[in-house]
Amino acid sequence: MEHPIIVERQGRVVIVTLNRPAARNALNSEVMLALADDLAPLDRDPGVGCFIIRGSEKAFAAGADIKEMADKTFAEMYGEDFFAAWERFAALRTPKIAAVSGYALGGGCELAMMCDMIFAADTAMFGQPEIKLGVIPGMGGTQRLTRLVGKTKAMDLILTGRMMDAAEAERCGLVSRVIAADRLMEETLAAAETIAGYGKTAAMAAREAVDRALELGLREGIVFERRLFHALFATADQKEGMAAFIEKRKPDFTGQ
Ligand code: HXC
Repeated sequence: MEHPIIVERQGRVVIVTLNRPAARNALNSEVMLALADDLAPLDRDPGVGCFIIRGSEKAFAAGADIKEMADKTFAEMYGEDFFAAWERFAALRTPKIAAVSGYALGGGCELAMMCDMIFAADTAMFGQPEIKLGVIPGMGGTQRLTRLVGKTKAMDLILTGRMMDAAEAERCGLVSRVIAADRLMEETLAAAETIAGYGKTAAMAAREAVDRALELGLREGIVFERRLFHALFATADQKEGMAAFIEKRKPDFTGQ
């Protein structure tokens, strides 16, 4: 069996390509475990500064694998805690960009939302069509989509099961940028290289602090941010970054 993901390293950037194009990159357990297991050591590698997650031109991912789930019983789903390993992917601490071309439906949209930002080709289509299958989003869709786009847009998408295009997704705050399809990877790679060029400790702290904004009250969130900000003064990168500014030169970050 072909490995369900392709992992390529390009300098400090790791490009991860979902590799089930014939099934529109449907996310079965093998894909889920490969994303969690294969990326964990890279996440801990100080030489890796950013992940890009992408699918094919036609489909980022058309959702969880319906054929794998169709016959499962409640006891099996609950007993296996089906989908639980997605939390390991979501918890990776290295910044990750979803580069979405074509369909990002159901679990595909949820996978994109587990990333720190979504860059969408102008061909991208997003949706949570689980209601059409007699279920609801199960990889975080009701929670993450609602936090990202607000209650009424989330309800609209989740209850009707309709798709929205890249322009609507950008308007409602789901995606960071819409990019012409033929330039998607070029622009995503440029952003990933920029991020990976900064100190990894600061980048990890930045994403951790932004993520807390979705979980904490404002006062706790601001204290959390300030403590991390203080902590960064223990890093060589803070000394280097500020010295470089004062000396009018480019900083050389080491992640230390
Ligand atoms: C398994 C899938 C699949 C999926 C597509 N395929 N999506 N297999 N799970 N989610 C398979 C098809 O069965 C087909 O296999 C092949 O991929 C090509 O699909 P087509 O439908 O022929 O392609 P196309 O006409 O281009 O349409 C693309 C599409 C459509 C619009 C994305 O495939 C589609 O609507 N897929 C389902 C989308 C969906 O409902 N996603 C939500 C899943 S549930 P064969 O063998 O015929 O070639 C979910 C969360 C579940 O994500 C949470 C609750 C537990």
